[in-house]
Amino acid sequence: MIKNLSQISEKILKEAGNKKVFLLVSGGVDSTVLFVLLNKVLGSERVLGLHVDHGLMRLNESRQIMDFLQKEGINNLQICDASEEFLTALQGVAEPEKKRNIIGEVFLKVASREMQRLSLSTSEWMLAQGTIYPDIIESGNIKNTDTIKTHHNRVQGVLDLQEKGMLLEPLASLYKNEVRILGEELGIPRELVWRHPFPGPGLGVRLLCCDGKPVGNEPKFLPIKSVGIKNNARTYGQPLLIEGDLPWEELEKQSVDNRAVWLVERAANEAFEAVEQYCAKETLDTLRLFDDICLKFLQENDLYNKIWQMPVVLLPLKTAGKPCIVIRPVNSIDAMTASFAKIDQGLLKNSLWPKLKAAGLGALFYDITNKPPATIEWE
Ligand code: XMP
Repeated sequence: MIKNLSQISEKILKEAGNKKVFLLVSGGVDSTVLFVLLNKVLGSERVLGLHVDHGLMRLNESRQIMDFLQKEGINNLQICDASEEFLTALQGVAEPEKKRNIIGEVFLKVASREMQRLSLSTSEWMLAQGTIYPDIIESGNIKNTDTIKTHHNRVQGVLDLQEKGMLLEPLASLYKNEVRILGEELGIPRELVWRHPFPGPGLGVRLLCCDGKPVGNEPKFLPIKSVGIKNNARTYGQPLLIEGDLPWEELEKQSVDNRAVWLVERAANEAFEAVEQYCAKETLDTLRLFDDICLKFLQENDLYNKIWQMPVVLLPLKTAGKPCIVIRPVNSIDAMTASFAKIDQGLLKNSLWPKLKAAGLGALFYDITNKPPATIEWE
């Protein structure tokens, strides 16, 4: 397995040959590390980065990436605002795999269009991706593994490029923590390298969509569906709802078989109703608002570095006409397995909830499931 910096650098030099390399920089840890790595190994004249703003970023995220790279003196990154194109393609789409495929295909369409606009001929340039090892396994590219979900860097167009030897994936044998260590070795500041991972399809996988069709009305379950994983296969079902003040240990016992959420607080004692919901500017802005409050809560309470990742998911659910979110704090080493993190319940109720409520939230749920049986993201 190719793991260390000198081996990876050698591989890049060999595979790139005399070509220049074009990279889509999502702003996540993987693609940022790869971008800095390619700049170091090949030199800035042979590298060009493109940040496609798909409109699925967090609040102020695109600007922060640019600020960091500028500070590092890396200025071969272009920005393309394609958010309208992505949102148009996602209109009315609820099925998670379909959303992923659309995001992946639009990504490629925008990328190849930009390459043409930049006159990046395929005889001179190749495409690089920050794919890491778990992405490959979970897309079913390795023998005997079922497809759990399609990663946007494993859609057909990318596989075609790979077949033609036009695809460079230097991080493909690395786990997440190994990518972070590599980033540190490259001199990227700790606070950037140890940022929580953020999926390529961005908030597209955290804004849970729903076509409005009923999914069951058993009161013990939320009337929505989320992706999970069981016996190495993908599941798509209703999360169990647990109410009442119970310690984490008690709650954990109830979430062994499928995804379960604990109701932290709610604004009113009214029913949870499923609503039709898709990725659109308005719903994304709502998610961005709550996501930012949750991020600041982690930072302010010295929790950010103690938790591996905390997706904030907007559910297609309303109570008393107000939106509902679930937070999914997890601890993990390599994202292949994870355990839910146990944040102090008093802090959730007395510090986080009042801020969310003031911003218009109807209910706050907390995912109390490990991976497996549930995935980290909700899709
Ligand atoms: P799951 O939901 O599969 O997530 O338990 C495992 C880890 O992978 C991240 N993730 C992605 N990262 N592109 C990425 O770069 C993707 O399409 C993608 N999907 C999930 C997720 O945030 C978690 O850290």
